Amino acid sequence: MIRFENVGLRYGSGPEVLHDVELSLESGSYHFLVGPSGAGKSSLLSLLYLARRPTRGLVTMFGQDIASAPRSVFPGLRRRIGVVFQDYHLLDHLTTFDNVALPLRVAGAAPGQIRDHVLQLLEWVGLGDKVDVQPPFMSGGEKQRVAVARAVIGQPDLLLADEPTGNLDEAMAERLMRLFEELNRQGTTLLIATHDTSLPRRFLHPVLRLDQGELGHEATP
Ligand SMILES: Nc1ncnc2c1ncn2[C@@H]1O[C@H](COP(=O)(O)OP(=O)(O)OP(=O)(O)O)[C@@H](O)[C@H]1O
Ligand SMILES: [Mg+2]
Repeated sequence: MIRFENVGLRYGSGPEVLHDVELSLESGSYHFLVGPSGAGKSSLLSLLYLARRPTRGLVTMFGQDIASAPRSVFPGLRRRIGVVFQDYHLLDHLTTFDNVALPLRVAGAAPGQIRDHVLQLLEWVGLGDKVDVQPPFMSGGEKQRVAVARAVIGQPDLLLADEPTGNLDEAMAERLMRLFEELNRQGTTLLIATHDTSLPRRFLHPVLRLDQGELGHEATP
């Protein structure tokens, strides 16, 4: 599904923040991406959700070479990807309901279906009483759950989550991790970036470790 060969990334004329990254994610796989602050986790994810192109090397996603693909294929590729951004990227003028419904509306789902599906998922993530509230009036952990709900609602082919449980209490983090497990069972490929080294120990998926822009692969614990 995804292949990186010799990938490097720099911001502007700054130093390279990813070096010679080799990565291959099979369809249906589930990996954690760990590494210290500043190691390049969010930068690597930004290549995967097609916010940037690499400064060198080859990125292939869903069979498309990203460097040579025409811009016109990007929106179609992005619709197959769910992203939980580290800083959420919610639309502040929309309610929780409308933020989460967005991917289904873009995909052209029927309004009745959207309503049932969104309300059910919001119940699951503990936001049944925040359906009509806008992000500026919510806590960090509540916004994080809206971001997760929006990323998973369309059952994307690929889910990229950047520190998705960082602001949650243990019980809620566990609940979201179970949601990710279920999504993976239904076929979604997952890559979850996290500082929380207990996650790979509790959920046994292989670990990719970034350190100062270098990616290493570890065996499944
Ligand atoms: N927009 C940007 N412009 C310039 N440099 C950037 C930008 N974003 C990130 N960097 C730099 O790239 C390096 C990697 O940052 P990145 O955000 O990918 O790390 P991270 O592993 O996600 O860290 P954290 O765990 O703190 O979220 C850092 O040195 C950072 O300063
Ligand atoms: Mg980050």
